[in-house]
Amino acid sequence: MQFSKNLIIWYLGNKRDLPWRSSQEPYRIWLSEIILQQTRVAQGIPYYLKFINVFPTVFDLANASEEEVLKLWQGLGYYSRARNLHIAAKFVAKELDGKFPNSYKNLLQLKGVGDYTASAIASICYDEPVAVVDGNVYRVLSRVFGIDTPVNSTEGRKIFKVLAEKLLDRENPSEYNQGLMEFGALHCTPQRPLCGSCPFSENCIAFNQNRVNELPVKLKKKKIQKRHFNYLVFISEGQKTILKQRRGKGIWEGLYEFPLIETNSEASAENLVREEDFQKYALATPQKIDLFNEKPIVHKLSHQHIHTRFWIYKCEQLPQKGVFWKEINKFPVPVLIEKFIDTFDF
Ligand code: ADE
Repeated sequence: MQFSKNLIIWYLGNKRDLPWRSSQEPYRIWLSEIILQQTRVAQGIPYYLKFINVFPTVFDLANASEEEVLKLWQGLGYYSRARNLHIAAKFVAKELDGKFPNSYKNLLQLKGVGDYTASAIASICYDEPVAVVDGNVYRVLSRVFGIDTPVNSTEGRKIFKVLAEKLLDRENPSEYNQGLMEFGALHCTPQRPLCGSCPFSENCIAFNQNRVNELPVKLKKKKIQKRHFNYLVFISEGQKTILKQRRGKGIWEGLYEFPLIETNSEASAENLVREEDFQKYALATPQKIDLFNEKPIVHKLSHQHIHTRFWIYKCEQLPQKGVFWKEINKFPVPVLIEKFIDTFDF
């Protein structure tokens, strides 16, 4: 009990004034928590403000098109989160009359809401005593209680959830949960935690055994896959280009991109024009395409590094329906493509 009391005292004296903290409205808390799964607080704030500004209620979000939602989400990554956000908003607006489910258990019905988000919403909005466990919580608890079970193992996830539940202040689950996350974000940080001024240092096992830098323990990630993307940037005399929407599972589903030719290794112009995927768009000689960037742009995702080169193909007429270059900014695109569009001098 003393742990959660001290934690809440620390929280009340140190918490940040964040735009969603003045509210217990589930729509706002849900939105902030979904965004914060994707990024740090400082980077999440502008996204939260954009969403609340454009979609002040769950009905506004439900009535938006998927493209509008993806466009606002652009840059956060994991676009399935944005699509789930939209699906859940439609469900709440249409099936539940705009009222969010009012318990942890019922919140789990919403698409994209798992244990973490349901616990956060239920405790913050409804004072339900359910413990949140996220990366910050793993770090704080593994250090204070000296637990070296890998946090990304099934066993580890269970151990930390049980401990977080045991420590939970049942009278005040909202401040306990937010305090634990905030303490991990501001004080018990991954690098250089502030052990000198820590309210738990007297009892902290990691501190007392000089193991702060060893905890938490994480299992090594899968090997990173290297992929080679070649984007074909058509430019017609009518100042149009071709954009395709990505379909199917996998990265960037629903976003737009230039025609993509993926190769097994870095491709030369000669190799590229011979690719079957290239010939779907045009039959051309290597001289027809100009390499924009010799050095690939490397876009790093959690399990893959995407080495990308852009190829410019000037032509009189497009082989397929196109879009005007000046309207290209209306489409949701991966950040990699957005950066290219910004630097490409049309
Ligand atoms: N990170 C994610 N959600 C948070 C919250 N509610 N408070 C502090 N940090 C967080």
